[in-house]
Amino acid sequence: MHPFVGTGIPRPNSVADRQSGMTMMKLTIRRPDDWHLHLRDGAILQAVAGETARHFDRAIIMPNLVPPVRTAADASAYRDRILAALPAGAAFTPLMTLYLTEDTDPADVARAHAEGIVHAVKLYPAGATTNSASGVRDFDRIQPVLETMAKIGLTLCVHGEVTDTEVDIFDREAVFLDRVLEPLRQRNPELPITLEHVTTREGVDYVRDAPGRVAGTITTHHLIINRNHILAGGIRPHYYCLPVAKRDTHRRALVDAATSGNPRFFLGTDSAPHVDALKESGCGCAGCFTATNTLSCLAQVFEAAGALERIEGFASLHGPAHYGLAPNAGSITLTRQETPVAYPAKIDSKDGPITLFDPGFDLFWSVTDGTHHHGETA
Ligand code: NCD
Ligand code: ZN
Repeated sequence: MHPFVGTGIPRPNSVADRQSGMTMMKLTIRRPDDWHLHLRDGAILQAVAGETARHFDRAIIMPNLVPPVRTAADASAYRDRILAALPAGAAFTPLMTLYLTEDTDPADVARAHAEGIVHAVKLYPAGATTNSASGVRDFDRIQPVLETMAKIGLTLCVHGEVTDTEVDIFDREAVFLDRVLEPLRQRNPELPITLEHVTTREGVDYVRDAPGRVAGTITTHHLIINRNHILAGGIRPHYYCLPVAKRDTHRRALVDAATSGNPRFFLGTDSAPHVDALKESGCGCAGCFTATNTLSCLAQVFEAAGALERIEGFASLHGPAHYGLAPNAGSITLTRQETPVAYPAKIDSKDGPITLFDPGFDLFWSVTDGTHHHGETA
């Protein structure tokens, strides 16, 4: 069903102008949101905040700082630092999350939710990814928090990988679904769950078919790269992220899911900046930085799939519906250019350069226009 059917929400400028025969050249959609974003802190936050705020109105902000964002007080202080890092005039709302530990206090979580400070709680299995050492080992210990969250309707965002060294890194998502996520969901059937950065066909199938309030985010880069991009013809650290990109069959399943119109799938870029020195290293950090060119990349992916009219659902409508929020009031216009759109290879930060994700093909779509709330120009 089309996401607008029965919602009573007027469509901004409808779907598209068709110019030059059958080629869609311009597309105006509601302003998008990013449902999984790393903004970091300090110098990197200063460098990247404006990159997301340029096109996105809201983002779910990951709490994996060092030390992590664990309490309502931490989240509120971090939110203030993000707001202070935004360029003048930016209209961007960070949606804060708490980092779930075995010591998280259910009462603090409930208070943070009631006061509108947090919009989700993030579950990292201990050791699964960047800065996840304080994550969960014993899932029984988080059951009281999960019960509170289910009661108040607060979403659990899940990094879905087991960390068992016996399990091959390419299988860690699929194994997590069986061993951890499905038992957790069955124990908490009312809990809203976001399986983040889905990278496998098994993950897509799980999100599509699981009973209850289950959704999945898909990143920009996992729609574009497979594991060959990381490993064939030389090791390319800027394509290394977690969960690691899989075989192309999985990438194609992700494209099918993202472009299907199924409201359980929506954009979470997982834009995860690390300075080049930490990526181009003997033990490089995981994360692709995609904030700057994400919408150009996505438009190209959706166009290639013959599904441009579904990009709005994926980027702007399905996410708010899952999180119980209204879609943004403003819009953006994507325009297909005659010549490739130029993006910088890197952006600068006071800690060093950060390499922008290179999709490996020319990008022709750019964001040419936009409004914020009720028609002010962006
Ligand atoms: C993220 C990071 O760098 O914080 N890295 C990544 O590869 N996605 C952590 C995460 O989301 O797993
Ligand atoms: Zn992430």
